[in-house]
Amino acid sequence: MPGDYYQLLDATISHLESLRQRGVRYVDISSESLSSLAKSAKQKNSASLVAQAAIKAATQPSNEPSIYDSPQLSCDEKESAMAKLSEEILSIDKSPELLASKANLVFGTGKLDAELMFIGEAPGADEDQAGVPFVGKAGQLLTKIINAANLDRETVYIANILKYRPDTPGQAFGNRKPRPDEIKFWFPYLRRQIEIIQPRVIVALGATAVEGLLGSTPTGITRLRGNWRLYRGVPVMPTFHPSYLLRNQSWSVKRQVWEDMLQVMERLKMPISEKQRGYFLRS
Ligand code: URA
Repeated sequence: MPGDYYQLLDATISHLESLRQRGVRYVDISSESLSSLAKSAKQKNSASLVAQAAIKAATQPSNEPSIYDSPQLSCDEKESAMAKLSEEILSIDKSPELLASKANLVFGTGKLDAELMFIGEAPGADEDQAGVPFVGKAGQLLTKIINAANLDRETVYIANILKYRPDTPGQAFGNRKPRPDEIKFWFPYLRRQIEIIQPRVIVALGATAVEGLLGSTPTGITRLRGNWRLYRGVPVMPTFHPSYLLRNQSWSVKRQVWEDMLQVMERLKMPISEKQRGYFLRS
């Protein structure tokens, strides 16, 4: 019934627009629904073009230009852009509010023209000591996940939202979650790393990484994970942070993270063996 169809479509669009005006940056939509909507939007009729625009409005979090609009840099240009950025961070006036007193810069590691970028939260004590992200226990688990996908740390790029370990006043050990003001302060530096690398896919590890990239959300990581989002044209796969996996050793959580990685591998058109498809499946 075309009349009903348009009415429903109009209602959906105005609902999405009002959500956006209220500051909602994205809505929950399963990858299956999104791909079937995108399929129907491929048919060239005006209704599906409107539907396509509505889907885009609902899933594209901002009006910022796509990162692929900037010219692609050569390897040398990327290296010098990253070196400049790192110098810039080192020269920041170290406000005690934003930087721990004895913290080292943990800038990022990996290949500057990587197709896949992993984004974490903030360095911990091990990373602070090494000046390299994800080298402690959570990092070792991340390395295992990367290796299970037939990749290694040298062929992807790994960075955090925060470039220094958050201070932990009055505490001799342990880490703390970054505050919103810290995420806001540091995100522009990560954003420039993303612009330099221009990855084809980003994996956001945990809620802080998702919040930095896509804005705060009323939905927790448990519901966000496994569903593609967009950051300025780059597909983002939210998944659980490896530290959560260390705390929660359940088979099903491991499988969920692995399913997110399978989606990433598919998106990057990487070969996937039957054995890889079956990891963490109980027979
Ligand atoms: N957790 C993170 O989010 N980043 C690291 O570098 C290490 C642990």
